Amino acid sequence: MSSLLDIKTSKLPTKKTGIIAIYAGQDGALSGQAAELWEQTGLNWKKTATAADFEGKKGQVFSLVSPPNLPCDRLLILADEAPEDDKTEVSGLTKWTAKGGALLARLEALRCQKAAVILDVSETGPEQIAEFAAGLRLRHYTFDKYKTAKKDDRKPKPPEKLTIVLHVADKPATDRALKRRMASVEGTLLARDLVNEPPNVLGPREFADVALSLKEIGVEVEILSAKDMEKLGMGSLLCVARGSEKPALMAIMQWKGGKKGQKPFAFVGKGVCFDTGGISIKPAGSMEEMKGDMGGAAAVVGLMKSLALRKCPLNVVGVIGLVENMPDGKATRPGDIVTAMSGTTIEIINTDAEGRLVLADALWYTQDRFKPEFMINLATLTGAILIALGRDHAGLFSNDDDLAKRLYQAGITSGEKVWRMPLGPAYDKLIKSRFADIKNTGGRLAGSITAAQFLQHFVNDVPWAHLDIAATGFGVPASDINKSWASGFGVALLDQLLRDNYES
Ligand code: BES
Ligand code: MN
Ligand code: ZN
Repeated sequence: MSSLLDIKTSKLPTKKTGIIAIYAGQDGALSGQAAELWEQTGLNWKKTATAADFEGKKGQVFSLVSPPNLPCDRLLILADEAPEDDKTEVSGLTKWTAKGGALLARLEALRCQKAAVILDVSETGPEQIAEFAAGLRLRHYTFDKYKTAKKDDRKPKPPEKLTIVLHVADKPATDRALKRRMASVEGTLLARDLVNEPPNVLGPREFADVALSLKEIGVEVEILSAKDMEKLGMGSLLCVARGSEKPALMAIMQWKGGKKGQKPFAFVGKGVCFDTGGISIKPAGSMEEMKGDMGGAAAVVGLMKSLALRKCPLNVVGVIGLVENMPDGKATRPGDIVTAMSGTTIEIINTDAEGRLVLADALWYTQDRFKPEFMINLATLTGAILIALGRDHAGLFSNDDDLAKRLYQAGITSGEKVWRMPLGPAYDKLIKSRFADIKNTGGRLAGSITAAQFLQHFVNDVPWAHLDIAATGFGVPASDINKSWASGFGVALLDQLLRDNYES
């Protein structure tokens, strides 16, 4: 079991603690509160640092056990561990998330149970401290519930609980920023949990139950059964679930934080709880990763949670299509033609191109019922986006330049980056069907684009963006703020988008 993490704020460290951590400047010098604290030891920092070869270089750390006259067992002096602040790539804020994550890793390695951190007040405002705390919490996350205690014995047991006190100048303002940022972190962690869960534990029913649990924090939740969806004519979504023992479900979540009658902002997620490919079955290699094919839906549920926790002053709708894609005697075949809720007929060429079939009906339903301000869908949609962009950016497709720009900027600020890809009639030709209105795959060329082009048939001119998170939702390299397989990608990005552009 992972330990508990408790993050508090206070003005000055007086109580005895395990570790006090302070940061040195680029040149290795101490200033402000850090310098004041060091002075209490009665030692000369310059001499000590020289003797210890501490120059303030990135990643350097100086550790003093039983420092004289300080209320701690160990003093940690850290050099700035954050990546270079490249203005084009990362925002000033993500530097702080990384810094928090890197510190948490050090505290864990030292088996620390109680720590105090002094952040230099001159350059550190509430937003930065909130970001730092977010980094601590995000890095602290582990998914080890299926590891039995025996296996855990191999490594030293982590402390039961880690308490970190952040020493800040303006406690009320910091606490406000912290509360908001931690709400978004909670959403990210929920999304990670959902993506990490095995597919025998988390099917459409169990996923829908997680959505239902958001009722406790004020989200209105409805579940559509397969029967309900049949009545609505969702032949596209339903054809994906035909080979599974587990019936399809759709969850509709509403957060009504805005004025009555104000148009909602809508988020739609692909929730394929497991994707075997269906009759067009996938090769065995890495197929287990397809338990993460509900990463889009996980991000939508995580986002709804974070918005409710921070009482976002907007009306927001989250819609997720939940299915399992299995081969079976009842499964959909290549060659089948299905009719979507919009009336569009679709020829199934490849049953492994199922995500777009789920989203087709989820998107049409969402715009038809809610007439949203905009509609953003998230989906682990194509392997091709991994080839195009790698794991550092999610693919962004949009019919609206302003929305695309805002998403790009929110990506820079939040650190969940997106890169815009094209759409256009030339690509639409690739999904013309000989027998139906459109077909569900467009061949080898431009695989991510033809998938997006397919989705566009179901958005009815509503301002829309599609985020292809197949490469960013799971299987991401370990970072300062995440060492788990799932990333929770999308929650921080969309929380940022709403906050920076629509909450005035
Ligand atoms: N869920 C997959 C896409 C995927 C692949 C996500 C790898 C994450 C990692 C999706 O349903 C799929 O199978 N897409 C096919 C489409 C093809 C059949 C046109 C793909 O990308 O190969
Ligand atoms: Mn598939
Ligand atoms: Zn899929």
